[in-house]
Amino acid sequence: MKKMLAPSILAANFINLEKEIRKVEMAGVDLIHCDVMDGKFVPNITFGPIVINAVKKITRLPLDVHLMIETPDDFLDDFVKAGANYLTVHQESVVHLNRTITRIKELGAKAGVSINPATPVNTLCEILEIVDLVLVMSVNPGFGGQKFIESSLKKIRDLKSIREENNYEFLIEVDGGVDTNNITKLKNAGVDVFVAGSAIFSKDNVTAAALELKNMIA
Ligand code: DX5
Ligand code: ZN
Repeated sequence: MKKMLAPSILAANFINLEKEIRKVEMAGVDLIHCDVMDGKFVPNITFGPIVINAVKKITRLPLDVHLMIETPDDFLDDFVKAGANYLTVHQESVVHLNRTITRIKELGAKAGVSINPATPVNTLCEILEIVDLVLVMSVNPGFGGQKFIESSLKKIRDLKSIREENNYEFLIEVDGGVDTNNITKLKNAGVDVFVAGSAIFSKDNVTAAALELKNMIA
């Protein structure tokens, strides 16, 4: 399976968002990760479909949209229409997860489910057969630049073995505190999609930082 790097624009300079995206495109990144926060599910507010649609218009890279919001079911259509290629909801914010995942797929996007650091992998066992992606949060969601939580590694290894045992096809994604110090460990544990915000956009040379991470997962 091809390993993918997904820079999170949360850490980018929003005044120059187009230029920031060009910098990571030059490094050959695979997806653009868009963090949607509502100030309720997480203690921070970011952006919604309008910004995602603006990004869609200026890049050909697929958009990986991470919904950290309450009642995501109310907005699935809006985010797919705005241009989400992958649309991920949190297990903790959805009551009827099977319905939500099915709906995302009906709308024509890849469907992801995410778990917070305190949520066990086994809460997903009934849904793994139908999801396209599982996003393991390796920080408590809400902010960029937090410290990586080590116990996420075991969750990634467990997901990988469950996938192998059952011939499931979901991608394993990790998000939070990913940098040059832990990316090799994460790769070896079984991650397919690596989200990185500050490890890319907070560096002086954004392209070089993305290229370094990209080479480390190759
Ligand atoms: C955190 C977001 C992340 C964030 C990661 O709630 O979901 O995508 O941008 O940022 P870093 O890589 O700085 O931890
Ligand atoms: Zn995210």
